[in-house]
Amino acid sequence: MKRRPRLLLSAPAYWANIWAEPLERGGIDLSVYGRDSFRPEEIDYALSFRPPPGLIKSLPNLKAVFSLGAGVDGFLVDSDYPKHVPLVRFVDDTLSREMATYVVLHVLLFHRNQRALDDAQRKGIWLQSMLPRRTEETRVAILGLGEIGTLCAERLRDFGFAVSGWSRSRKRVEGIKSFAGKSELGAFLAQSDILICLLPLTRETKGILNAKMFEQLPKGAFLINAARGGHQVERDIVAAIDSGQLAGAALDVFETEPLPDSSPLWKHPKITVTPHIAAISDPTASVRTVLDGIARFERGEPVPNVVDIERGY
Ligand SMILES: NC(=O)c1ccc[n+]([C@@H]2O[C@H](COP(=O)([O-])OP(=O)(O)OC[C@H]3O[C@@H](n4cnc5c(N)ncnc54)[C@H](OP(=O)(O)O)[C@@H]3O)[C@@H](O)[C@H]2O)c1
Repeated sequence: MKRRPRLLLSAPAYWANIWAEPLERGGIDLSVYGRDSFRPEEIDYALSFRPPPGLIKSLPNLKAVFSLGAGVDGFLVDSDYPKHVPLVRFVDDTLSREMATYVVLHVLLFHRNQRALDDAQRKGIWLQSMLPRRTEETRVAILGLGEIGTLCAERLRDFGFAVSGWSRSRKRVEGIKSFAGKSELGAFLAQSDILICLLPLTRETKGILNAKMFEQLPKGAFLINAARGGHQVERDIVAAIDSGQLAGAALDVFETEPLPDSSPLWKHPKITVTPHIAAISDPTASVRTVLDGIARFERGEPVPNVVDIERGY
């Protein structure tokens, strides 16, 4: 009789409780890294978000690795990742929709001056002078027009904002202006009143949200980063806000997570800090994706959302 595929889960303990039963029902045996003893050669598949360096390489018979999140930088930061093993990232409508609610929320809070109005309310001031700029004259610009960036762009377009996106390849999305490649980055930034980062974290995009980029934005632009902390240079963000080049920022991700107590971002009046919660992968959807992926690998069929490891996303 054919042996059931065995999956190694390397993730916080609460994930193991969520995954155990549906995997068992789906015909998959589960080993939990750090909890169960297992023989490395028996592991067929691995599931993680940020596996310990060297773990994936230590599994000689791996057929594929699944990411619990949309980003796979937590795997590729490990220089020992075995490049021949397919890496499947998590793509899900629910995740994209939740990301879009985060992005739309922070665009609207800035656009409608809501923070200043909250402050005025606390002081009992009837602050009618703070009318927002007209929506159709407000240029919202998205770095990364992929799964999540495209949905965010469409949502913001539907509110009437002037929306553009920057990606490696040219895009055709109704009502969205597409800028492509390094040669068009300057022109893209020059028309970004609200800049949103939804890029994957790769060699090319690490530290991209830095002083050099902020100088190319219109004065008083607002920054939203819901992608990865490695995209941003936090001291440059603070300096750009303090000089007035940036009006403020909403940040969901940080160079170090959890954000250290000593970080000036916590108490900066023009920075909104959220604890990497723009969207959390839905466990039911991720179980479904992994079961479907394993079934396809076992049948020798193509599997969607396999990452290009050289490109990094
Ligand atoms: N904060 C959270 O809770 C949370 C939750 C989920 C996801 N995320 C993050 O959200 C980000 C976006 O995820 P996604 O699924 O939308 O990614 P994706 O589908 O892979 O899209 C990536 C986009 O970035 C573009 N891009 C990549 N490298 C580029 C470069 N060097 N120059 C120009 N454009 C480049 C790609 O261009 P092409 O289309 O031309 O290839 C693509 O449009 C990731 O960083 C992910 O980790 C965060």
